[in-house]
Amino acid sequence: MGDVVLRPPGDKSISHRALLFAALARGVSEITNLLPSEDLRSTGRVLRQLGVEVSPIQAGRAVRVHGRGPRLRPPSGTLHCGNSGTTARLLLGVLAAQPFSARVTGDSSLRRRPMRRVTVPLASMGARFPRGDERLPLEVRGGRLVPLDYASPVASGQVKSAIMLAALTGRVPVRIAEPFRSRDHSERLLEALGLDVGADNGAIVLVPDDVPPFQFTIPGDASSAAFLVAAALLAKNQTRLVLRDVGVNPTRSGFLQVLRRMGARVARQRRRVVQGEPIADLIVDASPLRGTVIRASEIPSLVDEVPVLAVLAARAEGTTVFHRVGELRVKESDRLGLLAANLGRL
Ligand code: S3P
Repeated sequence: MGDVVLRPPGDKSISHRALLFAALARGVSEITNLLPSEDLRSTGRVLRQLGVEVSPIQAGRAVRVHGRGPRLRPPSGTLHCGNSGTTARLLLGVLAAQPFSARVTGDSSLRRRPMRRVTVPLASMGARFPRGDERLPLEVRGGRLVPLDYASPVASGQVKSAIMLAALTGRVPVRIAEPFRSRDHSERLLEALGLDVGADNGAIVLVPDDVPPFQFTIPGDASSAAFLVAAALLAKNQTRLVLRDVGVNPTRSGFLQVLRRMGARVARQRRRVVQGEPIADLIVDASPLRGTVIRASEIPSLVDEVPVLAVLAARAEGTTVFHRVGELRVKESDRLGLLAANLGRL
């Protein structure tokens, strides 16, 4: 049989960041291969409510963003983030320094998810949450911010990015340490745009400046690729799967490291770096798998791939252990509970 060649859709995390940074740039940015999903439409919608021009988010169409610079317009109505935790948490960072109040909400799942991981550091910078800071709906009163040196109790790309967005809009430097390294797409994109993002003893340091408008092609989503990789590894025939243009940023592709330990045959070809993000084609051949141990420090780099890795672990020889996966209980659903229930049914 011949190879099956596929291209996963644009990366969700990078798509959100590209829209938000483009909104804060003064001028027109053009983003190609932006993920045309409901979550990205939520980010597009709330940015339009804040006065940013965002062209329709549709498959196969580049998105043009006419950014306003760091000062946005007071919103018309409540900012509804749908099901998107990334939209909500990163938006709170953008709103922290705006000279107005805004109300942020989401669907019933998002309204159950923890927000103090972002409201606590943003309040330390000077934002106010007069009606409570734990869950949506939240009222944010932006204001003049102060610099922040923060040790986050959770390793979360959303927390780190919310603080970085507050730094950019509030024009204050920040230093953020986290227990383990979370996805670094914000750092890479800002650095590629010429901003001063440095590392200090494992912490990241951002000195704010203007964000210039940019043109960017979003890499393929490593998390979407993971499901295709898993299917190809378990396939009974000898079909080879080729996945083109997949983001292989090490802070996102921990599942590839784990798969290697499990004995999976996944090769990388045509490696390159585009605007700071490493990209490759993945070549996948069906492989017998063995169990492994996934350390706590690896979890942030594969947090969205734990369910699919658990499915592969169920088909592997021996036992697989995942350490410190409690974060999975506070995602869009309780991913641990549902995994146990559904693998149990099988
Ligand atoms: C994301 C970070 C992850 C991930 C989510 C997207 C991001 O959440 O689960 O789907 O874009 O920063 P946490 O940072 O809360 O782990």
